[in-house]
Amino acid sequence: MSVETLVNAGGVRIERVVTSGVFALDGGTWEVENNIYLIGDDTDVVVIDAAHTAAPIIEAVAGRHVNAVICTHGHNDHVTVAPELGHELHAPILLHPGDDVLWKQTHPDTAHWTLDDSQRIAAAGTDIEVIHTPGHSPGSVCLYLPEVGVMFSGDTLFSGGPGATGRSYSDFPTIIGSIRDRLFALPEETTVLTGHGDGTTIAAEAPYLADWISRGY
Ligand SMILES: [Fe+2]
Repeated sequence: MSVETLVNAGGVRIERVVTSGVFALDGGTWEVENNIYLIGDDTDVVVIDAAHTAAPIIEAVAGRHVNAVICTHGHNDHVTVAPELGHELHAPILLHPGDDVLWKQTHPDTAHWTLDDSQRIAAAGTDIEVIHTPGHSPGSVCLYLPEVGVMFSGDTLFSGGPGATGRSYSDFPTIIGSIRDRLFALPEETTVLTGHGDGTTIAAEAPYLADWISRGY
């Protein structure tokens, strides 16, 4: 898998690695591709999500110091190799405690550090702001870089609508509230980088909120 540079501005570089594997929940399995993002500069980096396979992520880190491995939520496809990355990269794993029930399904014997709403995490001379956005899962978070104008939405917001809420621990009215009250409060020019597939912007999605509510997904 190759590393793609998405943003390189003001000393902050955002890179994407794509890995593939299986998402499993409620007894079902689905083949999925996941985006892993790196926010960093030449010396330090923060990794967002730990999907499927460690080697291409470690390769993209390229020897830099890893401040943290942040998991946007606890679904197995976003945390698959979190313990391995934490160990290999000597980095703390951060996850909102609302998703401990999911984390323990994949990693019953590994502890993690916690994420809280409004927490700030340093990366490449800028701040990552944690926005707790429950709905896709109880502990889903989005990660906002106000100085760069980029928001990492995990599985909460995609190009074309909210993340899935049909399975255990998900709730549609809750995800709609998170998107309406927290994400659509961000500047409309904000770039949205999603946990799967291509990104979008707040401006491109906000006009469709009422449509999503009436269709129910
Ligand atoms: Fe998910």
